[in-house]
Amino acid sequence: MNDQEIRKELDELKNQLTFFQDLGVEFLICPEKRAEASLSKEKMRESKNNDNPLLVNLEPVTGVTDNEEAEWDKLIHQIMVCRFCPLYKTRTKVVPGEGDRRARLMFVGEAPGRDEDLQGRPFVGRAGQLLTKIIQAMGLSRSQVYIANVIKCRPPENRTPKPEEIKACSPYLLKQIELIKPKVIVALGKVAVDFLLPGAKSMSEVRGNFGEFSGIPVMPTFHPSYLVRNEGNKEIKKMVWEDMKKVMKLLES
Ligand code: URA
Repeated sequence: MNDQEIRKELDELKNQLTFFQDLGVEFLICPEKRAEASLSKEKMRESKNNDNPLLVNLEPVTGVTDNEEAEWDKLIHQIMVCRFCPLYKTRTKVVPGEGDRRARLMFVGEAPGRDEDLQGRPFVGRAGQLLTKIIQAMGLSRSQVYIANVIKCRPPENRTPKPEEIKACSPYLLKQIELIKPKVIVALGKVAVDFLLPGAKSMSEVRGNFGEFSGIPVMPTFHPSYLVRNEGNKEIKKMVWEDMKKVMKLLES
């Protein structure tokens, strides 16, 4: 790495740490430590259930089963070729969602923006970079969670999706949730909140309190683009971090 590259890396690290500080993050969890901690929790559970250490862990670690894999393939194909609403005419790429299909934590946003439409990946623009930092502050990586949107194609000029577009697209998110079975969902912004917690009032009223969707706890919080639009407002960042701390507590329970 040359000097310029090192300086660039250090600037990025500084930005990241400043953002964590603004959120109100008090300490960082090193990913290896988190893995060790969950491993030892697992071991404790095993030894409680079974006194013979030679008999533990006989169950193979299961990932996505063949059947689920087939369902995922079908679902992603349906999303990629979808023409259920007029948004297919203006999209560049469909953005089905990405991440761990067995994730315990799922984030649901509104709809792809310009960058997402160009890349076919969710939350990769400015708001996405903030979301990535929030996920990292939680001691996780993007590949350990699942990130999806209510709408899979970009509405022109990033306008709010229309009710008929949400209705046409809804089976996809519903199926994703059914397949992933996350332990917690974070609803990012009003469109996701209205989808998962119908009848919710304003964001300021609902954020920070768990609701429920199909038996899954849903944490409503501000959309990362609201954080982008209010860049200098540390209070909003702190509120989002408070919400994420509740999510982490639930995940650890
Ligand atoms: N905003 C969203 O709601 N979703 C994205 O994927 C990007 C920006």
